[in-house]
Amino acid sequence: MPDVYILGIESSCDETGAAVVCSGQQILSNVVASQIATHQPYGGVVPELASREHLRSIVPVVRQALIEAKQAYGSLDAIAVTQGPGLAGALLVGISFAKALAFALEKPLIAVNHLEGHIHAVLLEQRQSANSDLNFPVLALVVSGGHTHLYLAEVQQNLWTYRNIGHTRDDAAGEAFDKVAKLLGLGYPGGPIIDRLAKHGDPQAVKFQISQMKHADRRDHKQRDQTQNEAAVVVKDAGPHFDFSYSGIKTAVLRYVETQNMKPAMEARRAALAGIGKPLVEDVRKLCDRQTLNLVASFQRTMVNDLVLKTLSAAEEYNVRTLFVSGGVAANHELRTTFEREAAMRGIPVFFPSHALSTDNAAMIAAAAFPKFLRQDFVSMEFSAEAGMALR
Ligand code: KG4
Ligand code: ZN
Repeated sequence: MPDVYILGIESSCDETGAAVVCSGQQILSNVVASQIATHQPYGGVVPELASREHLRSIVPVVRQALIEAKQAYGSLDAIAVTQGPGLAGALLVGISFAKALAFALEKPLIAVNHLEGHIHAVLLEQRQSANSDLNFPVLALVVSGGHTHLYLAEVQQNLWTYRNIGHTRDDAAGEAFDKVAKLLGLGYPGGPIIDRLAKHGDPQAVKFQISQMKHADRRDHKQRDQTQNEAAVVVKDAGPHFDFSYSGIKTAVLRYVETQNMKPAMEARRAALAGIGKPLVEDVRKLCDRQTLNLVASFQRTMVNDLVLKTLSAAEEYNVRTLFVSGGVAANHELRTTFEREAAMRGIPVFFPSHALSTDNAAMIAAAAFPKFLRQDFVSMEFSAEAGMALR
């Protein structure tokens, strides 16, 4: 089969990405313009600012992706773009640009679910390293700033299908990392900072408990009859569920900070960091006392154990033969080592994307588009963003 060159475009949250991937397995370029500096002063993503930043970056980022891939627009076989889930205004920037490009170049357009992209980030690198031996069923944990979802993945004649067997009932895992870091005055985004600080603290120092979901999520019964309001739709199939909940631990950290009278130190750290233009993790560490480092390490240990143990329970329940862990939080060092250790004990191979492909990028969108290209699963110019898009 001749090589297939797909340009992927990603703009669902706070990274503008463009990448050229050949036949779903060779990354020719992968350009990401991060908006961290824009959102940092607010301690979280501001949707309108995100849209404006995407608008500013989209043309140079796509151009750069073509230059780095040494490809001309004419040599592309298709344009792929993230349809959802994500921030509507942010998604629309990528979608409008992709439509204009596809129209002008007379190339097919492929719509990709962002979560499917995260799953295909793992597949892309597996194929790249010629590891095509994939044993099904595959269970994928997508763990990011917006999602903590478990999917059973299947493929038949290039048609990938996904069955959701678990999701967070409230905050996503990455959101909990970000909110706890914000609360402790450590900076934004919180995940990478907590990851690096945690190794300096005692993970046993503070005991946290994560709520265990004993009852089915009432929202799941609403199923698809609510398609008018996609954001409210949670599509989950029958069978045992493995749900997560991370808003409680955030409140527990807050309570600990209050009862231990840590607020003055926190405020002092926040003010000191505000005075440093671009603080490094080492700057943050120097501003943390032992109690804060212990708190951070204990928080991370609790999060990691919950994510790993619930995922492995699901893997055992569904007799899974391969595990994927992807999304921004998959970059976490303790999460990776714990998954590797615990999955090995159960004889289940676990795969992660490289660091660059864990967080949002467009190579994963181009990779997820490849099987759709083979099936000629193209979209018309009428398609639009789906902020609450479910993965099926
Ligand atoms: O996948 P992603 O780039 O964007 C979304 O789709 O949400 O994930 C971003 C999230 C943020 O919450 C960030 O704090 C978290 O991933 N994150 C991490 C690490 N690197 C990024 N969380 C824990 N440890 C990390 N090393
Ligand atoms: Zn993501």
